[in-house]
Amino acid sequence: MNPNVHDPSRSSAVQPPSILGIETSCDETAAAVLSLEGHLLSNVVTSQHDVHARFGGVVPELASRKHIERIATVTQDALAQAGTGWAAIRSVAVTRGPGLAGALVVGVSFGKALAYALDIPCIGVHHLEGHIASAWLEDPGFATPAVVLVVSGGHTHLYLVRQRGDYTLLGKTLDDAAGEAFDKGAKMLGLAYPGGPALDRLAQSGDPSVVRFPRPYLNRGGFDFSFSGLKTSLLYYLRNQPQHEGAVAPAHIAAGYQEAIVDVLVEKSFRAVRHHRVAGLAVVGGVCANSRLRAVLQARANRDGIRLTLPRVNFCTDNAAMVATAGWWAYQQQRWSSWDFDAHPGLAIEAVSAGTGATT
Ligand code: KG4
Ligand code: ZN
Repeated sequence: MNPNVHDPSRSSAVQPPSILGIETSCDETAAAVLSLEGHLLSNVVTSQHDVHARFGGVVPELASRKHIERIATVTQDALAQAGTGWAAIRSVAVTRGPGLAGALVVGVSFGKALAYALDIPCIGVHHLEGHIASAWLEDPGFATPAVVLVVSGGHTHLYLVRQRGDYTLLGKTLDDAAGEAFDKGAKMLGLAYPGGPALDRLAQSGDPSVVRFPRPYLNRGGFDFSFSGLKTSLLYYLRNQPQHEGAVAPAHIAAGYQEAIVDVLVEKSFRAVRHHRVAGLAVVGGVCANSRLRAVLQARANRDGIRLTLPRVNFCTDNAAMVATAGWWAYQQQRWSSWDFDAHPGLAIEAVSAGTGATT
């Protein structure tokens, strides 16, 4: 792809200067265009669910290959949908980590090559900061200090966010992430990949009070989480329950299991809000697409008078709009990454330069 050739709109009407965001950390290939005024002009996501479904989970090598196949088209689509040409792109922001190594390398190599060819800066973005940025994407007036819960397939991390770029970890999962608990629970219930959304759908016709699962770590102090014991409880419950007559409907089991995860996430988040005396809470990441979690969070926020920010579902699951937003913060402070930055599968959020969003 030659940025100087494929640019139909280069000579046309006014194109707002923009940031191009790229995300390839797991199984979504995504690109988005965000204007320097903060308007989201496009947000293109292609999921690889069809590729990984028959394996029951993401196969890293296949994910990398699919990213290679799709990244150029997805990027061109994002520019086309934004009505923007290459000349309007001022910087490329790309997820640097954490994530799957091979998958990240595709996005980082592509993003750096593109930025180099266009002679513009490239910005390496921390994936979790991208998720946190989705709170501002949803609500540009998102006020800090606030508590932000990041719940995804790989993370269940509770942060005190004093301002953008300033993240204090309050607690995290000591074993499985909430998304993993959903996905593994769904697998045990015989649901198709991706399990989280399937379990959410099944639970909608179930009664969460029929089967009560334990609420791990709820009665302990602190803000850490643990979901592996809950998963084991489901395993034993399914093993011990009668196969035919007298069997509890899967929808009730799914609803009970989901309720245990939701209860813990909601209770700990609001506990953190109280403890740190902040007025706002945002819940971000793929698991925040869960309909029951959203409903319980909203009811609790209304009751307690807390300002709750829940990004819309396509800003919760992996996307490049959130990456462009975190990149835009860095761009505003002219904090771009050096050309030799690399993909970093285990990147810690402490690597985020204070107040910027860029990783060097
Ligand atoms: O943020 P995300 O798209 O990717 C990661 O960074 O991990 O999160 C993916 C996770 C998966 O575990 C997926 O099953 C879960 O989010 N998820 C859901 C729902 N939609 C996605 N979990 C429960 N209910 C949903 N509706
Ligand atoms: Zn994610």
